[in-house]
Amino acid sequence: MPQNTLIVSNWKMNLNLISTKKLISKLKSLKTSKNIKNIVCPQYLLIPYVRDLIKSSQIILGAQDCHFEEKGSFTGDSSILLIKEYSCKYVIIGHSERREYHKEKNLDVKKKIKIAVKNNIIPIVCVGESFLMRQNKSYLKFIYKQLDECIPKKMGKLIIAYEPIWAIGTGLIPTIDDITEVKESCKKFLKTNKKIDDIKFLYGGSVNSQNFFEIRNKCKVDGALIGGASLLEQEITNILKGDF
Ligand code: 13P
Repeated sequence: MPQNTLIVSNWKMNLNLISTKKLISKLKSLKTSKNIKNIVCPQYLLIPYVRDLIKSSQIILGAQDCHFEEKGSFTGDSSILLIKEYSCKYVIIGHSERREYHKEKNLDVKKKIKIAVKNNIIPIVCVGESFLMRQNKSYLKFIYKQLDECIPKKMGKLIIAYEPIWAIGTGLIPTIDDITEVKESCKKFLKTNKKIDDIKFLYGGSVNSQNFFEIRNKCKVDGALIGGASLLEQEITNILKGDF
């Protein structure tokens, strides 16, 4: 049986009410293969709106982050309880932009994963190295440390998104061999050290309709976490309508 492919749109801090409605209307009009999970992750203020717009469609809702506590005095943060109430099924955790601009540490990521799992929301955990680490070949060591410190032991389902920081929004992407190496290494590491077998592996960083299918077919990844191209009607349509 063909495995599901996850197409995760990370809209980041983009789109307003009008452009959201237009994009969702386009996504709803697409007849996509049953093997695709089309997951959209809007910014928080758009979540209730998108929840209503996608009713009776195949589109699945996700969030871009959550706090590691369910409630409390955390001004400006968002609770997993509300994310769940609004029918989100997934949450992106540990994105490099959160790590960079909000100084999130691996331990924070671990706590967020735990609170998501407790609430039956599937975490999409981001890992990935800087350009310097890629150049000096310390990238695997760095990713192992991220996995070791972020991932709780014996989790059920886990989705890892490999997003090299240098590939995000730059138009640069690792080679097929590089992505495959990181995929195989992560799976092996998680199996050995965390006893986790059920892992889906996504690639993210400058994914578009030109490179997605080669990455998917040659690296045998389970899908992609897509930023810029997920905002462009034609690009995301070409990806979702592709050959699955
Ligand atoms: P781009 O697809 O714009 O490079 O962004 C990737 C990303 O950060 C998705 O989470």
